[in-house]
Amino acid sequence: MNFDLQLKPYSFLSAATETADELKTQVFIIGGFVRDLILNRKISEIDFLVLGSGTEFAERYAARLNVKNVSVFRNFGTAHFRFKDHDLEFVGARKESYSRESRKPSVLNGSFSDDISRRDFTINTLALSLNHDDYGDLIDTYNGINDIENKLIKAPIDPLITFDDDPLRIMRAFRFASQLNFRLDDSMIEAAGQLKQRMRIVSQERITDEFLKILASDNPSIGLIHMNQTGILEIIFPELANLGGVEQRKDFHHKDVFIHTCQVVENISKVTDNIWLRFAALLHDIAKPQTKKFVEDTGWTFHGHEELGARMIKSIFKKMKLPFNKIEYVEKLVRLHLRPIALAKEEVTDSAIRRLIVSAGEDLGDLIILCRADITSKNQEKVNKYLDNYEKVMKKVWEVEDKDKLRAFQSPVNGEEIMQICNLSPSKLVGEIKSAIEEAILDGKIGNNHDEAFDYLIKIKDNYLK
Ligand code: CTP
Repeated sequence: MNFDLQLKPYSFLSAATETADELKTQVFIIGGFVRDLILNRKISEIDFLVLGSGTEFAERYAARLNVKNVSVFRNFGTAHFRFKDHDLEFVGARKESYSRESRKPSVLNGSFSDDISRRDFTINTLALSLNHDDYGDLIDTYNGINDIENKLIKAPIDPLITFDDDPLRIMRAFRFASQLNFRLDDSMIEAAGQLKQRMRIVSQERITDEFLKILASDNPSIGLIHMNQTGILEIIFPELANLGGVEQRKDFHHKDVFIHTCQVVENISKVTDNIWLRFAALLHDIAKPQTKKFVEDTGWTFHGHEELGARMIKSIFKKMKLPFNKIEYVEKLVRLHLRPIALAKEEVTDSAIRRLIVSAGEDLGDLIILCRADITSKNQEKVNKYLDNYEKVMKKVWEVEDKDKLRAFQSPVNGEEIMQICNLSPSKLVGEIKSAIEEAILDGKIGNNHDEAFDYLIKIKDNYLK
């Protein structure tokens, strides 16, 4: 197979051919670029494999392209520069032997076949020659093309060696399965399970990076289920692994919360790319195991799981080294995920709706997306009924909002005015009086306008000034 035609848009590659001639060496494009070219996916990075010094090649090639800024990592024998919109990465062919305690390989020069045999998956071993005599020729030593066609992730050699060399590859395998909707060869699943303890040598940042890529992919549940099935989840995210399992007592059984969670994440991923909203979906029932109780004649209950769940978010973010500025958002969605459905009943008051609007603030739309995704019944009639309930809630929200534009709710009588009328200087008491006015509006006792709020202030002030 020859890819000369597909390489045409990358005209800057001809300078790589000339550089290889000049250095009397050979150079190939390897890995992700070739895979993504075949799969028609967006290409961001080009990896060059040089038979010889990758760093020297990068410097000469950059000079031909008039690129001044080349990052050279002599210790690793790698180099990088940007050209137009592309990241170009260079490495010399190597034989790698990994140390057992870290993911750091000790590198020896190797041949082309040494190098590709130590790569992670057959679909990532595909190489395109950039050399004069066979420019664009595909080198497919491990039947990578076949595996792409069969949508299969497989190691080029014994997966126990591939994963043992670099255990992060276990997460990468799950990630590619999720991103590409590929199947994992049974041998990979087996090896991942056997070597799960090796995940402990991988840094949290790298694990979290792959985890988020799985969550951001088109099919996050594929990766989640693989992580669970191989026991990796127990190591990297025990709170999630804990959701699995079903208990039966008398005639009552509850659903498997892990499977339900996977479905909710899958549902939400069809309607949003917001990774933190997906993360909230992942964690919405996280405290169910801790709150599970069997009540005679009623069955299983999970009282307070939303509040306890919200309180677990911070420690999960800390451990996974996730950005702290997203904690509040995820906490809020977890805490409120049961509120909207409780408001679907006919007799719900405006004030209950107002409380939801105020608690959810600008994230109300996201909360409803989460609630809709949380419907995982197989009974279409039920699904329609539940969806209809959220429509009803949102209709009430709009009605109430129309009434009083509450999203940025503030007492219509401000602190200055309260101080003046009550003859107070700035103090806690001023805040209490203001809250009392706001409460009265939320409870529907008075309207959300200055006149009524002012009259109410006159009426209650003496109770506070005693
Ligand atoms: N590779 C590997 N083992 C790893 C990481 C990478 O064998 N733990 C090899 C693979 O051949 C991969 C290439 O190095 O194709 C480049 O790695 P990277 O850029 O991380 O991955 P890509 O395959 O390009 O995919 P993505 O950019 O989506 O991560």
